[in-house]
Amino acid sequence: MRVYFEADADPGLIRTRKIAILGYGNQGRPQALNLRDSGVEELRIALRPGSAGAERARADGFDVMTPDAAAGWADVVVMLFPDEEQARVYREELAPNLRPGAALAFAHGLAIRFALIEPRPDLDVFLVAPKGPGTALREEYLKDGGLISLFAVHKDSTGSARALALSYAAALGSGRVGTLETSFAEECEADLFNEQAVLWGAIPELIHAGFDTLVEAGFSPEVAYLECLTEVKLIADLIHARGIADMREAISNTAEFGALKGGDRIITADTRTEMRRILREVRNGSFVKDLIADAEAGYPLLKASRAVAAAHPIEAARARLRDLTKQP
Ligand SMILES: NC(=O)c1ccc[n+]([C@@H]2O[C@H](COP(=O)([O-])OP(=O)(O)OC[C@H]3O[C@@H](n4cnc5c(N)ncnc54)[C@H](OP(=O)(O)O)[C@@H]3O)[C@@H](O)[C@H]2O)c1
Repeated sequence: MRVYFEADADPGLIRTRKIAILGYGNQGRPQALNLRDSGVEELRIALRPGSAGAERARADGFDVMTPDAAAGWADVVVMLFPDEEQARVYREELAPNLRPGAALAFAHGLAIRFALIEPRPDLDVFLVAPKGPGTALREEYLKDGGLISLFAVHKDSTGSARALALSYAAALGSGRVGTLETSFAEECEADLFNEQAVLWGAIPELIHAGFDTLVEAGFSPEVAYLECLTEVKLIADLIHARGIADMREAISNTAEFGALKGGDRIITADTRTEMRRILREVRNGSFVKDLIADAEAGYPLLKASRAVAAAHPIEAARARLRDLTKQP
């Protein structure tokens, strides 16, 4: 797989374009700040009227406009608001107003992969997906680093979509560490799978299950918290720095022997079968169908799951430990 760096991009290209960032949340704000610090001058934020983010964007020195006005102004419209909202906003506010030959940019392939948006034939359509949260994108940029991004071109109507995507990724800081080419489908499916099967679905559930097991057996919630949650950051840092095999050098023989006894009793053949089922649900569109149905109903499932997480005793243990110790 080829990896692209700053030298492979034309940093000047993105600076010649008028960029509208739609959304000023997790990705919108960090991306806007990184682009501006990389020399993009014609940069505006688009938000719906009454948006809570408008004040913050103005305080950061950006002009704020509505999505339909932004579409009529910009050369590049970047879709940095919730995936499940994107099709409606595109249909009602962007498609009728986008300038001929403009570019539509995404940070996630969902709306294109599942054909929720079928872009006008004259548009360029590309993806630059930073592999990490917006906070990290900004923090690494400020340290003269960056986050690795994936990029893809869905439609190159003008002949410059690919160069523009690489120039955009470089301006986010990804050119400093590496930008990898993918497709909208690969980025989207792998991301949706990982969110459920590894990162946001499995890891918190594993932490809850470990914590609950210890507390049910009479251990103090504070000790259970330290064992099952605090150390997750330490192992994540170790795995990131050294890889899974080498990380074992940094743990005791006892811990390593524990891994050998416990690991495949938790991640069993059934777990792997379930992972394949999750991947099938991602690929056949049933996950996206459920996501959109929940959004259209006002997010009952998402709200209920937030309430369950907030009420879990691990949160009280976290608060008590913060009061009792000096660890942030
Ligand atoms: N979260 C991440 O770090 C991350 C990482 C990689 C890729 N991505 C992708 O980046 C995109 C944005 O995700 P996100 O987590 O950054 O979203 P987010 O923080 O939830 O987006 C919130 C922002 O979008 C605005 N917004 C909501 N509905 C809107 C509408 N109808 N029109 C215009 N603006 C609207 C909100 O304004 P209001 O005040 O009006 O609600 C707010 O400014 C998604 O495609 C996501 O998959 C995210």
